[in-house]
Amino acid sequence: MILVTGVSGRLGGAVLAGLRAAGGLATAGASSSGDGATARLADFDRPETLAPAFAGVDVLVFVSAGYAEDDVVLARHGAVVRAATAAGVRHVIYTSLAGSGERLTIALAHRWTEARLAEAPFDVTVLRNGLYAEIPAGLAMAGAAAAAAGGVFTAPLGDGRLSVVARDDLAAVAVRVAAEAQADLASGASGASGAPGASGRHVGRTYELEGVEAVGGRELAEALAEALGRPVQYRPVPLGEARAALTGLEPYQAGHTMSTFSNIGAGLLEGRGGHLTAFLDAPRPVRGLVVASVQSALAGQR
Ligand SMILES: NC(=O)c1ccc[n+]([C@@H]2O[C@H](COP(=O)([O-])OP(=O)(O)OC[C@H]3O[C@@H](n4cnc5c(N)ncnc54)[C@H](OP(=O)(O)O)[C@@H]3O)[C@@H](O)[C@H]2O)c1
Repeated sequence: MILVTGVSGRLGGAVLAGLRAAGGLATAGASSSGDGATARLADFDRPETLAPAFAGVDVLVFVSAGYAEDDVVLARHGAVVRAATAAGVRHVIYTSLAGSGERLTIALAHRWTEARLAEAPFDVTVLRNGLYAEIPAGLAMAGAAAAAAGGVFTAPLGDGRLSVVARDDLAAVAVRVAAEAQADLASGASGASGAPGASGRHVGRTYELEGVEAVGGRELAEALAEALGRPVQYRPVPLGEARAALTGLEPYQAGHTMSTFSNIGAGLLEGRGGHLTAFLDAPRPVRGLVVASVQSALAGQR
């Protein structure tokens, strides 16, 4: 049996839907309501929920629960690794962070979790997910009103660009890896099945799922121009100005947001290729997603 955690989230929900659409027997794990009667309660903040949630699970799709301070995330993820070990889960697939994000503040919890998984007795596959296309789309949407009024898009990105990927593409990779891991266990092809010398296709693998398309301030200004039907120029703003303008965020989010801006400006978030195209013939075009997000936000304001 495959269990997907975090199914009320957008990534976990898409992975669960994809597995079920492919005809697989996938069970939902959720920290709260989930999808009703078919969901198992799997709240990483309440480790006592994890033993019953993981009972009888062969393949666990462990979706990171990273929206919190580092100490909270480490406690959550440590609890998952211990519970999966105790329950005898055979293969854990963890949604981590791409290599280009190594210097982001959010990398700490992901790399710590990868290290705990590497020490565990079960098979592991690490999906090092690239940053979501929603990040630049959100920046463009935030700048849409000013761009519409004055033809200028401001953002603290310098000349840097970031490689991003559609969340649905990351979900599609997770679906395929989980289904194949389950099939390998069922056929005895996986090491965790006990067959001597056997190894499943994804056992011990770390996949770098960097986006293949990079966008920066200029590309976002072009997307805004397309969505607004008027010329838009990009004007970079200093990090200090961006920090002073941050509002409405949890304290930990402010740190992660500034870290993302710093990394983009330093040119560190432009990927150098990876495994995405080994799984997907044609990753979804990011620029189109940004334009569509801005257009839908503008339509909602009318
Ligand atoms: N690659 C990127 O650009 C990027 C950006 C932001 C975040 N992330 C990471 O990717 C994860 C999934 O992204 P998403 O788009 O699905 O985020 P999302 O839609 O905001 O969902 C948040 C996720 O956190 C889970 N969660 C929160 N508290 C939990 C708890 N106590 N126990 C178990 N799960 C808990 C939720 O699961 P429940 O259904 O159990 O509540 C849900 O799956 C995030 O949680 C974050 O770690 C990646």
